[in-house]
Amino acid sequence: MKRKQRIGILTAGGDSPGLNAAIRGVGKAALDAGMEIIGFRDGFRGLAENNTIRLDKRGLAGILTIGGTVLGTGRDKPHRMKINGRERDMRDVIVRNYQRNKLDALVCLGGGGTHKNALRLVEKGLNVVTLPKTIDNDLAMTDTTIGFDTALGIATAAIDRLHSTAHSHHRIIIAEIMGHRAGWLALGAGIAGGADVILIPEIPYDVRNVAAAIRRRKQFGTNFSIVAVAEGALPMREAAHFAIAARHKREAKNKAEKLRAKHELIHLRELHAGHTMRLAKQLEELTNLEARVTILGYVQRGGTPSAGDRLLATRLGTAAVDLIINKEFGVMVAACGDDVRPVPIAEVAGRMKAVPENHSWITSARQVGTCFGD
Ligand code: F6P
Repeated sequence: MKRKQRIGILTAGGDSPGLNAAIRGVGKAALDAGMEIIGFRDGFRGLAENNTIRLDKRGLAGILTIGGTVLGTGRDKPHRMKINGRERDMRDVIVRNYQRNKLDALVCLGGGGTHKNALRLVEKGLNVVTLPKTIDNDLAMTDTTIGFDTALGIATAAIDRLHSTAHSHHRIIIAEIMGHRAGWLALGAGIAGGADVILIPEIPYDVRNVAAAIRRRKQFGTNFSIVAVAEGALPMREAAHFAIAARHKREAKNKAEKLRAKHELIHLRELHAGHTMRLAKQLEELTNLEARVTILGYVQRGGTPSAGDRLLATRLGTAAVDLIINKEFGVMVAACGDDVRPVPIAEVAGRMKAVPENHSWITSARQVGTCFGD
């Protein structure tokens, strides 16, 4: 009797709405194809510790609409995993657990870091298929990512609500929006929420330009403004320092230079902390308006996924099973218009999708008078 094909599945990196919908899509399609599905808890750590959960019809029931991930997640790296306080390369242990569980394929749901880790397992010979998940929408080779649509709705709704206090108190209200080092979420929510200023990492800003735009609004009788700031947004001077440090890292000739450049970037990131509060203070001084900050934070990753994310997660999840049936491995299931397509994980890993400066969203925002601080 031929044994049933068996798929392993894990979720890694930051949680996001739609993860459970994707787990359900993979799981139900796998069961429908007569396969078995084994979940690994808490990202790659579950794979290293063989911490499994059998996913059957019952286990998949009712999770479509639940936020977060029933498997748990984590940011552990297979090649440098802290075990009992010591960093160890757990890739060979992972390969052994993959074989012990008699897996025919492994599905990894995650963002940039997960794709780098998944590629390390592909290089160890495992049959891996990945799904693009992150609220940041900063994964290369895919139109969008699971979680982005929901986070866009949450951030937009927050900006809508922040208008009340802005016009009631004649204040500058600054909403800090997630997105890591990309500006997609802040740009999309800023446009959808009608923000007057949108600051994103891809367009370094001069606070004097932001203040001038706010003062112009005041001159024309609107004495409040909404500023949508991506958490990675940079003043021009800071952006220049980052660019130099990034060049040092790129041009590093040996390990010592690479390490020095890495520490330079870490130091700059530490200095960047609290940037939105400093921006508020600067704008108060330059405009004589009060400024208040709301950091949306993890609210943007919480709760039930939007209909769009449920649809995307189901489409990508079931497509992953089709690829496994066709023995197409080492690929990410990318969203491509109304369709999906497999793209090599090697072309996704280590590449961030930034907002192009001439992107149509930016053009539209400028056409409705949005200031980008440049
Ligand atoms: O990648 C998703 C994300 O929410 C980013 O927008 C944010 O910068 C980061 O995760 C926060 O990471 P953590 O969940 O580890 O605090």
